[in-house]
Amino acid sequence: MPTLWDEVSVGRITLPHRLAMAPMTRSRALPDGSPTSLMAQYYTQRASMGLLITESVQPSGDGQGYLLTPGIYRPEHVAAWRQVTDAVHAAGAHIFLQLMHVGRTSHPDNTPHHRQALAPSAITPGTEILTSAGMQASPQPREMTNDDIVKTIADFRHAARQAIEAGADGIELHGANGYLLHQFLSPNANHRSDKYGGSTKNRSRFVIEVATAVADEIGSDRVGIRLSPGQATGGIDEGNGVAEQYHHLVATLEPLGLAYLHLVQIGDEELLRHIRHTWSSALLVHRPGRDLDTLSNDVETGTADIVPVGRWALANPDLIERLRDNAPLNEPDPSTFYGGGRAGYTDYPTLND
Ligand SMILES: Cc1cc2nc3c(=O)[nH]c(=O)nc-3n(C[C@H](O)[C@H](O)[C@H](O)COP(=O)(O)O)c2cc1C
Repeated sequence: MPTLWDEVSVGRITLPHRLAMAPMTRSRALPDGSPTSLMAQYYTQRASMGLLITESVQPSGDGQGYLLTPGIYRPEHVAAWRQVTDAVHAAGAHIFLQLMHVGRTSHPDNTPHHRQALAPSAITPGTEILTSAGMQASPQPREMTNDDIVKTIADFRHAARQAIEAGADGIELHGANGYLLHQFLSPNANHRSDKYGGSTKNRSRFVIEVATAVADEIGSDRVGIRLSPGQATGGIDEGNGVAEQYHHLVATLEPLGLAYLHLVQIGDEELLRHIRHTWSSALLVHRPGRDLDTLSNDVETGTADIVPVGRWALANPDLIERLRDNAPLNEPDPSTFYGGGRAGYTDYPTLND
């Protein structure tokens, strides 16, 4: 029976234990999308997490939704990420960049070119987003043409290559939480009548084409994907067909031989069992806000190979040591989650402090 503290292989890499750092946007990149030395310090401080899945990184100007998020599509981004990956590797950890295209969850004020957002259909998410002028409604996006789809897949492919050139161990496709890939999957966000909409199979097509392209570009064993079946964020409502949608999607992704599948598990245990049975490489199961016993239980019962954690890792640079020693944890401070400097970022104390 595996335990939380056993090694595990993911694609080309071997990790020292079954915890990992979940992706968390912190909005501390430069306005041009370059990561900073402070970001290198933040990730390096958390090296004992073994696998660091970065905050969302946009693969193109179109892919940006939030202020001060990093990109990986220009030469200066590659050079700046190299400083992060070198520092993380020197500290003994591995790093996957999470590639996120936000689709309609955006605002022209927040993108470098200020263009109308792209989405599967011209349907607003009905949500607000933080801009430099305060909270504003995300405006109606433009329905992607076939050329837009081809270009967006090429952008993902390019970004994956750039991530590897920047020294990353791999990339995670963000197919969860209501962003572009999830928008294609969801019948209330995707009203297309071409081969990318209508049926379960058609709604899955864009996600599969993106995954196939990046796997072809950098090797499937350096690609993970995050999915959140049934999660109603960003105006998403997947309706009654969630199980059918994700049975099909996971069964079609499986033969690609990706490094891992990262599930945000929000309740359907039967679907989770089905996916565990279908998926043969590493399965990361992320149950938001759970305790250590639940994490251990998921590993010991074989439900998950790896159990990523978010806010615990954000607030505790030495989380692994604290969990091993049963020491108390620092509380995360939500007021410093997005944007700012060192406060609430690199100044959370360790036990030694
Ligand atoms: C500040 C913050 C930023 C987040 N940004 C991302 C993100 O960029 N990509 C993503 O997939 N999830 C993101 N999440 C969700 C986390 O990965 C995770 O699922 C969530 O925090 C719940 O897990 P936890 O209880 O372990 O924190 C974010 C969460 C927080 C708190």
